[in-house]
Amino acid sequence: MELSRPRGTRDFLFEEMKQRKVVASTLKRIFENYAYQEIKTPIFENLSLFTQKSGDEIVEQLYNFKDKGDRELALRPELTAPVARLYMAQMQKSPKPIKMYYYGSCFRYERPQAGRFRQFWQFGCEMIGGKSPEADAEIIAMASHSLKELELEGFEIHLGHLGILRGILDEEDITGKTQDHIMGLIDKGEPKLLQEFLDESEIEPDTQKILYKIIEMKGTSKLLSEVKELLKGRNKALEALFELEELVETLGMFQMEDYVLNLGIARGLDYYSGMVFEIYVPSLGAQKQICGGGTYNLVETFGGEKVESTGFAFGFDRLMAALISQKKDLNLKVAADVFIAPISPKTRKAAFGIAQKLRYQGISVEVDLGRRKLKKLLSYAHNLGVRKVVLVGERDLEEGKLTLKDMETGNQTLVSEKELLEHIRP
Ligand code: HAM
Repeated sequence: MELSRPRGTRDFLFEEMKQRKVVASTLKRIFENYAYQEIKTPIFENLSLFTQKSGDEIVEQLYNFKDKGDRELALRPELTAPVARLYMAQMQKSPKPIKMYYYGSCFRYERPQAGRFRQFWQFGCEMIGGKSPEADAEIIAMASHSLKELELEGFEIHLGHLGILRGILDEEDITGKTQDHIMGLIDKGEPKLLQEFLDESEIEPDTQKILYKIIEMKGTSKLLSEVKELLKGRNKALEALFELEELVETLGMFQMEDYVLNLGIARGLDYYSGMVFEIYVPSLGAQKQICGGGTYNLVETFGGEKVESTGFAFGFDRLMAALISQKKDLNLKVAADVFIAPISPKTRKAAFGIAQKLRYQGISVEVDLGRRKLKKLLSYAHNLGVRKVVLVGERDLEEGKLTLKDMETGNQTLVSEKELLEHIRP
């Protein structure tokens, strides 16, 4: 029997799960403070949901299968397309913008390596409709706020606009799949392949030069005037640049100054149309990108109206790796606050009664389920990390009393059953 895990998957044990829970609940709190509401969509979808925009090539990167009814399905590689599907099916009439967030696992058939898995988690959001510089700025500010709240250090927000590169290509009549292919080569950072492809294309050498220059452009907002000069006469690209300029101004209103303009961002998924951003933690190495997002128009691709949307997703596993490598105190909760230890078989029944009473009061309680001797019980309680043990002795019970043992100091105090709760409330 094969007992090993499938390639690119992981098991998570208690401590790691606790850490993940703390981070997820912090993100939930922040997203909800920005008025996002949680949704959940299926783990698998019709395969066509993902091939519609990206073509059949994407199948290579997916987990797809036929079910017993011969339906072509896929494990979701991301959640933006599912959310757009959900919007089309149920929310077209809702007032906009619609602000949603999600936390769930995604599957990609990739070559596993550090920080790149076949099953991984995304924590992300989508704002459908209501596109404006303010909406884009708020989304970026929320991503940044989330990371600050988690006290992540050394993250870099890179901001760009796909309309600049796409605008240049549009004006050269490079559209559709060819354009997407070029964007893909830029995204992968494959300068050689890009050059080969552009050399074979009919793009004017002058335009090629501008493309190479733009891809390399990184810096502060001072960059914008330089780009304007470079794009003279290329109206479509200039339009996108003006949009980016407005976004930069608006970001100031959100007290966002700590980002880098990076016009080389192309994004791997081909539904993006406007502003794009990525967040990197360089110390993570090759898989340093912990977040990606931008403006897109998937609803229109799916046959709906033109409803521009913006969103992003944190790669939850990479975010965790960055936090853990910085040894962040994630306020880990122990398995239980209190352990109830019956000292003799006769007090076992009473022990369960006390445990239930405390649990109903909101205290996390573990009780001996293994009919063990006291010494073993205490060492088990110690391993669980509980701070207090309630010793239930026969004679104490007769007097309505219990012995409370503080596991840190070793001190024991006799307390009345009635007062127990006051003594153990954390
Ligand atoms: P993405 O950049 O493909 O964007 O994925 C978002 C994040 O998921 C990445 O930045 C990365 O941290 C993480 N990630 C991707 N693949 C893996 C993997 N194999 N193992 C571990 N982590 C991974 C999207 O998926 C878009 N749907 C984001 C979005 C939402 N755009 C608009 N709305």
